[in-house]
Amino acid sequence: MEILVNQNNHLPYQDMNLIQFQRLAILAQDIFITRLVHRPVVDSTNNLAIELSKDDNPDGLVVIADKQTGGRGRRGNEWCSPEGNLYMSVVFSPSLRVSNNIVENSLIQLITLMSGVAIVDAVDNLTGIKVSLKWPNDLIIEDKKVGGILTESRYHASSIKYLVIGIGVNITDRAFPPSIVNRAISLSQFTNNTISRDELVFEILKSLDKWYRIFKEQEVDEIKGKIINQWKNYNCTIGRRVRVISDVRTITGTAIDIANSGDLIVQAEDGNVFSITSGSLEFL
Ligand code: BTN
Repeated sequence: MEILVNQNNHLPYQDMNLIQFQRLAILAQDIFITRLVHRPVVDSTNNLAIELSKDDNPDGLVVIADKQTGGRGRRGNEWCSPEGNLYMSVVFSPSLRVSNNIVENSLIQLITLMSGVAIVDAVDNLTGIKVSLKWPNDLIIEDKKVGGILTESRYHASSIKYLVIGIGVNITDRAFPPSIVNRAISLSQFTNNTISRDELVFEILKSLDKWYRIFKEQEVDEIKGKIINQWKNYNCTIGRRVRVISDVRTITGTAIDIANSGDLIVQAEDGNVFSITSGSLEFL
């Protein structure tokens, strides 16, 4: 199912469920969404979003699927994607004003952190469940992973053409494979109420809209301050003993801060302090 927002398209017939899709299409007219796509099955919503972003300006494209056959996590990991959970990709094409002022890697980092904050707010609004954030992109409850964000970028010449924010949230705890069963957790384990995937999609999109507006409209330093402050409020990273694997080194030490650029600041065991722009982190 698919609609170009604000064009009088005939709505196709098949489920998201149609009623939810129509509600989403109505919401889309008030927020950043320009094109809304739902598929029952895809290999990866990020792949489809990238494919659909080849033409035109993709800013505001949203792709949702009921399940993925080739869901991707960071660093080449597989993202287990049975039906019952949330799989969504959102495309942002941030304005040049921002791109000109922030180093490109930091822009990606900042949008990833912004998306984490938006998802935490959305889950809290819908369910009252408090999710925390582990740098750079993990959604955590009780030290286990309830969701993750995979941000991918495509460039035109040397500047970012668009970013795809891939969001996965475990809603039901069906079918965690043995390899992740001890590290993964689902929202349904924290409430007796049924959590609707579609309601969660609504909340996340509204919350992303709020933050993306701030992102587009305010001055760069203000934006950074707001996102990082809120990220710190929700974080479960600072103060923890960690191992960080970046592209250039592996550091064991203590996570001491997040810089306004989104970098993780780690004090290694020998006392040296490192600022890490991208990498993966495990708690020790
Ligand atoms: C991670 O924590 O490693 C990131 C996981 C991101 C998973 C989501 S599910 C929707 C989107 N499509 C994908 O193939 N991956 C992301």
